[in-house]
Amino acid sequence: MTSLSMQHLFEPISFHGITLSNRIVMAPMTRSRAIGSIPNDLMATYYTQRVSAGLIITEGVSPSPNGLGYARIPGIYTNEQIEGWKKTTKSVHQQNGKIFIQFMHVGRIAHPANMPEKSKILAPSAIAAQGQMWTDTQGMQPFPVPIAMSQSEVAETIQEFAQAAENAIRAGFDGVELHGANGYLLEQFLNPYTNTRNDSYGGSIENRCRFVLEVTQAVISRVGKDKVGVRISPFSTFNDMPAYSETVATYDYLSQEFNKLDIAYLHVVEYAARATEEGQQLSKTIRNNFKGTLVLNGGYTGTKAEEAITTKQADLVSFGSAFIANPDLPYRLQHGIPLAQPDSNTFYTADEKGYTDYPVSEASAYTA
Ligand SMILES: Cc1cc2nc3c(=O)[nH]c(=O)nc-3n(C[C@H](O)[C@H](O)[C@H](O)COP(=O)(O)O)c2cc1C
Repeated sequence: MTSLSMQHLFEPISFHGITLSNRIVMAPMTRSRAIGSIPNDLMATYYTQRVSAGLIITEGVSPSPNGLGYARIPGIYTNEQIEGWKKTTKSVHQQNGKIFIQFMHVGRIAHPANMPEKSKILAPSAIAAQGQMWTDTQGMQPFPVPIAMSQSEVAETIQEFAQAAENAIRAGFDGVELHGANGYLLEQFLNPYTNTRNDSYGGSIENRCRFVLEVTQAVISRVGKDKVGVRISPFSTFNDMPAYSETVATYDYLSQEFNKLDIAYLHVVEYAARATEEGQQLSKTIRNNFKGTLVLNGGYTGTKAEEAITTKQADLVSFGSAFIANPDLPYRLQHGIPLAQPDSNTFYTADEKGYTDYPVSEASAYTA
């Protein structure tokens, strides 16, 4: 029985032709188990263990060889990858789950040692991110200076997203989420410090948003708006994204454009925005501008998620780290069972340890 205090979180919801059994979304999380960038049986097991989420969003998956900047992240641009993902989608659907794939093109957050031969590290402008990243063969390495994309590379990259979306549907996904958050390629176009272009993709707010919107439109034209969600993270500085004065105006415009495109959902990582009055105001503006399904994320507990849904700040709430150590997270939230804490040492390691070996709670094992 659902406790009265959690009743909204466990209400089903239907939008854009999709019905979810509850309002709990598993947030996208890179877990680096895709050896050779091919999705495998272990990953199918991991996602199926978490199938009681109303919606699962996969880890970031690269739509092209150029987008694969981290070690052991999966792709969706070869037949082998499409076949590999079918194991996950089939298994999740057999258990009546719903699953979207997140497209993460990392842009400049990449290192050649993590990438296939002949791939290129592309970004809006030739500006390296400060800091270092892990490579399996050379340990920690500084971020290299990326190649500033030519107009034809911009067009090709947009087409890669569109093709990947078609591949995703072929692989059995219910839809795709475009990763416009956390400092990867799409956000690199939004931010004037990482995008100093003087063509139609840089400068004004409309120009900086153009790439994100063209990718969204291209994906919609291939698979339909019902199958497309977008993730954003206003005010986040993660992956060396400096704060800029036009943040509010940029996301005000962008959220209005997403509303016109009538995408299936908008997923907002709110951590950074919540910290300031200006950010909180922007969250309200986004809610106001975007009339469709809004997913909020960042540090939610069951109680806070219930409150966000009850007060109509959100339609869905996504949980990230809590899903790592609690495969039966919805059950635990519903029944007030304490949450297990994840071990961050195994977030990005290569095998089942810290991945598929977290048990469900005794009570939910008994119920199952
Ligand atoms: C191990 C790990 C990997 C992550 N990988 C991704 C990713 O691939 N794509 C993404 O959009 N966010 C990623 N995130 C961010 C989460 O989706 C989420 O925004 C963050 O954990 C905050 O939510 P939480 O407080 O519920 O954990 C990752 C987070 C963690 C902990």
